[in-house]
Amino acid sequence: MSFSTRLLEWYSGHGRSLPWRETRDPYVVWVTEIIFQQTRIDQGMEYFHRFLEAFPDVVRLASAPEDQVLRLWQGLGYYSRARNLHRAAREIVDHRGGKLPDSFSEWMKVPGVGPYTAAAIASIAFNEVVPAVDGNVYRVLARMFALEESTETGKGKKVFHEIASQLISHDDPGSFNQAMMDFGATICKPAAPLCRECIFNYECLALARDDVAHFPVKKTPKPVRNRYFNYFFFFFEDGEGQRKFPVRQRDGKDIWKNLYELPLIETPRETSLEEIVNHPEWKARFPAKADWVLNGPPYSHSHRLTHQLIHAKFFSLRVSREKAFTFTEDFFLVDGKAFELMPKSRLTLLFLQRNI
Ligand code: ADE
Repeated sequence: MSFSTRLLEWYSGHGRSLPWRETRDPYVVWVTEIIFQQTRIDQGMEYFHRFLEAFPDVVRLASAPEDQVLRLWQGLGYYSRARNLHRAAREIVDHRGGKLPDSFSEWMKVPGVGPYTAAAIASIAFNEVVPAVDGNVYRVLARMFALEESTETGKGKKVFHEIASQLISHDDPGSFNQAMMDFGATICKPAAPLCRECIFNYECLALARDDVAHFPVKKTPKPVRNRYFNYFFFFFEDGEGQRKFPVRQRDGKDIWKNLYELPLIETPRETSLEEIVNHPEWKARFPAKADWVLNGPPYSHSHRLTHQLIHAKFFSLRVSREKAFTFTEDFFLVDGKAFELMPKSRLTLLFLQRNI
């Protein structure tokens, strides 16, 4: 029996029962693949349901404001996924009359869709014979064939893609691709793989060498960049005892683009409040005469991203209403309720939940 027949047999008995597997609607498959490409199933499932409830089709997604799309994505990370999904929906509605692409090559032209996603959608929704090669597939193949090739180089990617192209089922490529994902996620797991239960344990070359953990071969990891974010919660209480404070929308090329946050000064290392307030950046950006009073110790939290470690400190500063907010930037005043509705990073959300 061929590799694909055995895998598909395993999949029919052991594949995970996941909601998008009930449909071939390319919109649902597209949303699924964007959410779950960088997110574990258990982490993303609620987002998946909420997203499709709010935006059941491409027209509904295209007509939503970006803030609403990002707010639904809040906490999920890799926010460019949501921005691209939204932009792509608008392009599809504006230029294709709302008709989704129906082939790998057409999907490759869609913003935010790379070879993995295009292959997953084309195979699952349109039965096109293209392998969707993600981290799970790299791992399964690297172990099965004891491939020393790194999955991170162009050459290595080509090798894996070539092997997957030879193995893929021509009868049911969509199920084959999803079977590989499930097999990698539940049997050929990154740590503590279930080799005893594995249907390929007689053929697996890595297991024969008793060296499963060696595969897939990784290049030296990119070093983690440490960053020091000092946030300022400048607040006052209005007539009704509601705290009001300035926030702004992030821009530029950095992380968290278009999400909202408190005033921020980034420093090259950990810094005290005293040092910061004497720094020219403080004087340039924040009110010269604001009579702030420190309201308790700062809230510190380290927030890990893929290649960055954000060392954040939130300083709560009580200010008097009149003099406080002569900011030069695009800050605007909100209260906790209004801020709750705006899309934020998980880091900012954490502070909000504890302090506002
Ligand atoms: N991860 C990404 N896409 C997936 C899918 N279609 N099934 C299971 N896991 C996935």
